[in-house]
Amino acid sequence: MRIDVLTLFAEMFPGVLGSSILKRAEEMGQVRYQLTDIRRYTTNKHGKVDDRPFGGGPGMVMACQPLWDAVAAVEKQDKTPAHRVLMTPTGAPLTQPTCERLAECERLLIIAGRYEGIDQRVIDRLDPEPISIGDYVLSGGELPAMVLIDAVVRLIPGVLGHDESAHRDSFSAGADRIFDHPHYTRPRVWEGLEVPDVLMSGDHTAIEQWRKQQAEQATRRRRPDLLNESDSV
Ligand code: ADE
Repeated sequence: MRIDVLTLFAEMFPGVLGSSILKRAEEMGQVRYQLTDIRRYTTNKHGKVDDRPFGGGPGMVMACQPLWDAVAAVEKQDKTPAHRVLMTPTGAPLTQPTCERLAECERLLIIAGRYEGIDQRVIDRLDPEPISIGDYVLSGGELPAMVLIDAVVRLIPGVLGHDESAHRDSFSAGADRIFDHPHYTRPRVWEGLEVPDVLMSGDHTAIEQWRKQQAEQATRRRRPDLLNESDSV
């Protein structure tokens, strides 16, 4: 998969894309990240990419021209058509099924907006899929873009090793949209707190049952909406 990110703050990305699983995925050739600074494409002689909003109001609006030209230039670099995504708090919520769908794309082009917004005309022309990572407002789409990249890349076949396998994660289709169960490792007693006996019993049926029950309990307590939605428990 090729992932293009168009941003005014490319310097925010290398730490995240250059660490852990996202880094390994690139080293293994499973994904290629390309960051593009939208400002490079502005025709404004002062390097401006934004302007005041027509109709008044606070803040600045990202103008059409730099973004349009940046998308055109980046898309031309590769014959593979890109699925365009716009990170915005007004987008559809990012969910595990959305990540699974995006993980099947050969190429993603992610636009990380800033300022109060982007001129609606260029959004209408580009027609990206608008995605939000939650009902709160961040200073820009960069952190959301990194969240989306992490959630998607780990689903590309072969990116996770056997031990890290994604299919048992909370929210994956196979997990019935309930939380993962709690995990424990050595030591058996830490600060006087013991690991639940059942996990030490060697009884795999009992362990599976206990884990399922713990996962359901946590889901019911913290996210009852998930149980009602799926009607699976
Ligand atoms: N940009 C600012 N806030 C955002 C959010 N919650 N999700 C996606 N993009 C954003």
